[in-house]
Amino acid sequence: MKIAILNGSPRKENTAAMIEAFREGAEEAGHEVEVLHVGKMKINGCLACEYCHTKGEGKCIQKDDLEKIMPAYLESDMVVFASPIYYFAPTAQLEAAWQRVYCIGKPAKATKAALLLSSGSGSYDAAIAQYKAFTGYVGIQDMGVCTATGDENKSEAKLAEIKAFAKTL
Ligand SMILES: Cc1cc2nc3c(=O)[nH]c(=O)nc-3n(C[C@H](O)[C@H](O)[C@H](O)COP(=O)(O)O)c2cc1C
Repeated sequence: MKIAILNGSPRKENTAAMIEAFREGAEEAGHEVEVLHVGKMKINGCLACEYCHTKGEGKCIQKDDLEKIMPAYLESDMVVFASPIYYFAPTAQLEAAWQRVYCIGKPAKATKAALLLSSGSGSYDAAIAQYKAFTGYVGIQDMGVCTATGDENKSEAKLAEIKAFAKTL
């Protein structure tokens, strides 16, 4: 299975550690993983111009770093959203990418999804609700949500848990 991970963190710290643990487990289970560093990309908000759903035939009119993630997003069998929590939500960078994939409506091939969230003290409810609403709306299966809070971040136990989760996919 091809897995695309949209990493909303601009840093190589806590979310990155979760992603690496997930990648290790998934690759050991024989999956192909591509990490897309959305947190460092320049992706604008959606203009709601509807070009994508009319003349654009699934392509966005805006020319920015969304183009760097679309090939992997279109090809993936599973999409993983990964982000630190910023004020109770995923980062603005991940939110922009997530809203812009509106251009293709449902993921082309992906039938599975997962969510990885890192935070200082919790505050996951809004991000998890958004993710569950999205998976329900586009009709893909939620395979699970992993969170790392405070000292759990980069802890051996948490990374082992995430790796074990990825091996079950
Ligand atoms: C702008 C900003 C807002 C944040 N808001 C929250 C929050 O609402 N709740 C929380 O528990 N942690 C919050 N944090 C802490 C981060 O979620 C936490 O440090 C996370 O582990 C960072 O992940 P990273 O190392 O991948 O960047 C915030 C951090 C920043 C920079």
